[in-house]
Amino acid sequence: MSSIKVIGGGKLKGETRIQGSKNAALPIIAATVLNKGVTILRNCPKILDVFYMINVLKELGCVTTWEGNTLIVDTTTISSSKVSESSVQKMRSSILFLGALLGRNHEVSIAYPGGCSIGKRPIDFHLDSIKRMNVNQVFLGEDKGIIHCQTDKIIGTDIFLKFPSVGATQNVILTAVLSEGATRIFNAAREPEILELCSFLISAGARICGKGTAFIEVEGVGKLHDVEYTLSPDRIVAGTYMAAVAAVGGEAILLDTPIRQIESVIRVLDKIGCNIKETDEYLKISSYKRLLPYNILKTQPYPGFPTDMQSQLMTVLCLSDGRSTIIEEIFESRFQNIGELTKMGAKITNTKNKAVISGVGHFEGAIVKAHDLRAGAALVIAGIAAQGDTIVREATSIERGYEDICRDLNSLGANVRYCSDNIL
Ligand code: EPZ
Repeated sequence: MSSIKVIGGGKLKGETRIQGSKNAALPIIAATVLNKGVTILRNCPKILDVFYMINVLKELGCVTTWEGNTLIVDTTTISSSKVSESSVQKMRSSILFLGALLGRNHEVSIAYPGGCSIGKRPIDFHLDSIKRMNVNQVFLGEDKGIIHCQTDKIIGTDIFLKFPSVGATQNVILTAVLSEGATRIFNAAREPEILELCSFLISAGARICGKGTAFIEVEGVGKLHDVEYTLSPDRIVAGTYMAAVAAVGGEAILLDTPIRQIESVIRVLDKIGCNIKETDEYLKISSYKRLLPYNILKTQPYPGFPTDMQSQLMTVLCLSDGRSTIIEEIFESRFQNIGELTKMGAKITNTKNKAVISGVGHFEGAIVKAHDLRAGAALVIAGIAAQGDTIVREATSIERGYEDICRDLNSLGANVRYCSDNIL
């Protein structure tokens, strides 16, 4: 495990380029198995979660190579339909190989992904939907921990999602692309990463309409073809660095920011007093005075305020001039940072999914722990804003989604570096 040491104090000033999107890359890497050929993915972030997905591809018999930030995937030969338990335990998003392998081989064996620090992360919407597509499901193993799905042919049908689940929407789309007939998804997730998966699949020959809306229709086709695709920048990484300027003060130019995809974040930061300028090439954010509180901030499915930005805004609002409330509506345990920020002097009380924050004048440096990648990033930001030094332990989780958070924040004028966990 590695830690991040943060030297506190000072304002930010500088510019950085936003990496490719983690949450677009992961489903698209799974989707490559639907094509018996070569896929070229440009602007692919070199992050742990991508490396984990590449390991699954290799387990299946695929060949992958990197050329800079371009990932080349050859899925001509797939020798297995099994995704190992260790792969799924390492990374729950490998569950997206369920739909992709079903589409390719009409069969898949994959372990149940466990929960994680932010919640139980069940997959009932995935399984209930795919069962309706003429797919038999049996649960194997002593603890019934292995899902085995098999079908003679996938038949398109109507799918009604109880909740606009991102993963369930993606798995249904992946299952439907090479099916017979049409699959209509009602109450589909509208996150930009769904739109991006659909754009990728359409460019590879899939027939999909309604991408990015709550109603998506997939008309099955016989096969896909080779494709080159460039991933969008990561909206949550961009939002994270905007939150850094808001918490610490100063200014930053963020190149390649997907501005339209983070309008809900821009609105909140603008309302609490940040100055934000948008151009075609970059977003500029600055903050030179103590920020205002935000009355009630609720996380919502897209296009609402994203849950993946909740921890970062909690850090910002802890330093604002007054009382704010955050309500986490997506995951049942995404408030672990309350304990860590309290060690730094924050004043937060919470009941269930509601946190009430009373702004304080400053943070004190402390030894804290990253419970998940977004919470970890939010603690690094708190450390930069703090008086004194901060050690963020178990910072490896941050590398799951941030290519190099130290490189990026130091280019904005921070002083942060990776160090070993036994630094103290
Ligand atoms: C995706 O997770 C993202 N991960 C998450 O980002 C993000 O927080 C989440 O969407 C919400 O936007 C990737 O894209 C790889 P969901 P996913 O299915 O697909 C419940 C990050 O930090 N649910 O929309 O797992 C679930 O428990 C990560 O980058 C069921 O009950 O999210 C949760 O409460 C964290 N049954 C809610 O729905 C199901 O079958 C939203 O989950 C599926 C989901």
